[in-house]
Formats: sequence, C-alpha cells, structure tokens
Amino acid sequence: MSAPSPAPSPRGRFITFEGIDGAGKSTQHARLIDYLRDKGVTVVASREPGGTPLGEKLRTLLLGDSMHLETEALLMFAARREHIAQVIEPALMRGDWVVCDRFTDASVAYQGGGRGLPLTKLQQLATWVQGDLRPDLTLVFDAPVELAQARVRSGTTNPDRFEQEQNEFFQRVRQAYLAIAANEPLRVKVINATQSPEKIATEVKALVDKVYLIH
Ligand SMILES: Nc1ncnc2c1ncn2[C@@H]1O[C@H](COP(=O)(O)OP(=O)(O)OP(=O)(O)O)[C@@H](O)[C@H]1O
Ligand SMILES: [Mg+2]
Repeated sequence: MSAPSPAPSPRGRFITFEGIDGAGKSTQHARLIDYLRDKGVTVVASREPGGTPLGEKLRTLLLGDSMHLETEALLMFAARREHIAQVIEPALMRGDWVVCDRFTDASVAYQGGGRGLPLTKLQQLATWVQGDLRPDLTLVFDAPVELAQARVRSGTTNPDRFEQEQNEFFQRVRQAYLAIAANEPLRVKVINATQSPEKIATEVKALVDKVYLIH
C-alpha cells in the first residue's frame, strides 16, 4: 500500500505595492520582505514590469524606448503573463507568499489614468492574462506629486521614461489609484506616504498581519 500523499499546502498570500514614482514603494517593499522572513514566512519578492528574465528584458524596453500607448499596455501585460505563469502562481500553489512591487493596478493607473487608454481595453487584457487571480491585499502609497517627484530627483541621476513625465501626468495617475481604492476598499488600502519610513512600515505591518486571516 502506498503512503498517503501529504495534504496540499494552503495557498500563499499575494500582496502588491502601488503608488506614483517616488512614493516609497521599493523602500517599504524591502522592509516588508525582511519582516515576513523574520516571522518565518517563505516570501517571493518580485516586481513589475519584470519578475522573470523575459519580463526584465521587457522592463528595459518599457522604461527606455518610446512606443505607442497600446504597445506599452500590451508589453506590460505580456510581461505580466510570464510573471504569473513562471513565478506568481507556482509560488502561491506552494504556499509561499508573493510580495510584488506594482501589478495590474499600475496598468490601470498609468496606461489608463495617466495616458488615457480606455479602461475597457485594460480590463479585457486583465481578464485574459490573469483570469481570477487578484491580490489578497494591495497597498497604495499616496503622497502629493511634488513630494514624490522631489524624492525621485534626490535619489536618481538617470530618470526613466515614466519618471520624466510631467506633474499633470502623475496627478492623473495618483487620482486613478485613489479611485481604485475607493472602488475596492476591502482589497486596496491607502497609506499616507508623506510620513517617516518607520511610521509607514508600522502601518504596513499592521495591515499585512491582518491578511493572515483572509480565506
Ligand atoms: N517615507 C519616506 N520619507 C522620505 N524619503 C523617503 C521615504 N520613503 C522613501 N524615501 C526616499 O525616496 C526615494 C524614492 O523611494 P522609493 O525608491 O522607495 O520609491 P518608489 O515608490 O519605489 O519609486 P519608483 O516608482 O520610482 O520606483 C528614495 O531615495 C528613498 O530613500
Ligand atoms: Mg521603486
């Protein structure tokens, strides 16, 4: 008689970080990864666009080369398709957590809100590429555009194609993120990103601790 197969591991948690350039996503992403690993959670730290070797090549194109707005959206979702197939789904199936610096809300905010691509087209792509997959928790780091841009300027010598956009573009992106949060208050939480990194990290941990209770 063969030994009984082990019980399948419970599905992991999927957390995404969002916000305009310079809001402080990557800073808090690194801190949360450390926090979760210290708690003994197996975490896959990832980012979009990117997250796979092919996705990182697409990221280089997306952040560097001028292109049609729809090409930009399609490449974002192409990279996402690869990321979901190669990294996100397998990790969640193993019971690992995935903490991703940007995901589909960024396409809605940047290509939709920022550049004006109709939401219906983005929703079609999202349905195609991710099916039912949704983050369990999304944190929107919210700060005034002027503050976020000052942070980008102080931290970067070579701004990418998005970071070079004008104030009005980021105002639209910010408003699009706030609209997403207003529409999906259970999944999406807005964090005041003007606070100190320590204060923000404390809020992030409190919200993430609650995600244990989901499902
Ligand atoms: N709460 C904070 N207060 C002050 N400065 C901060 C704070 N959080 C991050 N910074 C600084 O602001 C700059 C941008 O932060 P970070 O790279 O985390 O932003 P980001 O949202 O990931 O930006 P991007 O979208 O361009 O990747 C960095 O130099 C970082 O050290
Ligand atoms: Mg970043």
